[in-house]
Amino acid sequence: MTATSAPTSIARPIVSVTKGSAASDGAGVKLRRMVGGPGQASVDPFLMLDFFSSDEPSDYLGGFPDHPHRGFETVTYMLAGRMRHGDNKGHSGVIEAGGVQWMTAGRGLVHSEMPEQEHGLLQGFQLWVNLPARLKMTDPRYAEFPASAIPTDTRPGAVIKVVAGRTSASVEGPVKAEHVDARYFDIALDPGAEIAEPLPRDHSGLLVVFEGSLEVEGRTTDALSVAVLGHGDQLRARAGPRGARFLLITGRPLKEPVAWYGPFVMNTEAELHQAVSDYQAGRF
Ligand code: CO
Repeated sequence: MTATSAPTSIARPIVSVTKGSAASDGAGVKLRRMVGGPGQASVDPFLMLDFFSSDEPSDYLGGFPDHPHRGFETVTYMLAGRMRHGDNKGHSGVIEAGGVQWMTAGRGLVHSEMPEQEHGLLQGFQLWVNLPARLKMTDPRYAEFPASAIPTDTRPGAVIKVVAGRTSASVEGPVKAEHVDARYFDIALDPGAEIAEPLPRDHSGLLVVFEGSLEVEGRTTDALSVAVLGHGDQLRARAGPRGARFLLITGRPLKEPVAWYGPFVMNTEAELHQAVSDYQAGRF
């Protein structure tokens, strides 16, 4: 008889790094597009990732006045400042530092995202998560969680804030995104500290380093950058001499065709035309 050996764990390497590109959106808000911008690939099921960070009010005061979305979800994670959300389905709220807003646009809504401050630092991320074909026309939903609702998994030299998904220590975040089984962790590492975390082998993975630097399988990436993870079933990372803070975002790829026009992300061109005419006819 032969013994069955335990499956070997494979650390996921970094396969590409982008620093993003300067962009402007909404009413002139300056931001850095880290994923999904010109010349940048999307990483199925993640369509786009923006980072906004400025203490210059003219960079953000215009905010994002009323605009539509259909066919995907937006996830806003605030690091500093306050942002007010309101939509035409009756949802409203203010997210503050450490808080998260997870909005399912589904069949469509019109919303605004406006800074709730006139000075000081406004900083955070917005991620666009695609919806599978069967959920693109689902009812719009809105969920908001303050910093106090986001649990932490604390380890030697590491603190993981768990926004979505569950860590290997069974700490589970408040956001449910079952359709892509998303993980969204905000990880802080002390200088030189290491972390190992199992990840589903077939899920896409992003590391968004926003403070310090991080070494993964011999490759160092520093703030501000997005690293795409290659194949494997765990993350092994070590912080640089100034420590590291980064988002670990993973999700199951949808592997469906993407038809994308501005704020509408569907599967076919015909569905995009339908989205535009529904919006113009006030059917959102
Ligand atoms: Co929006």
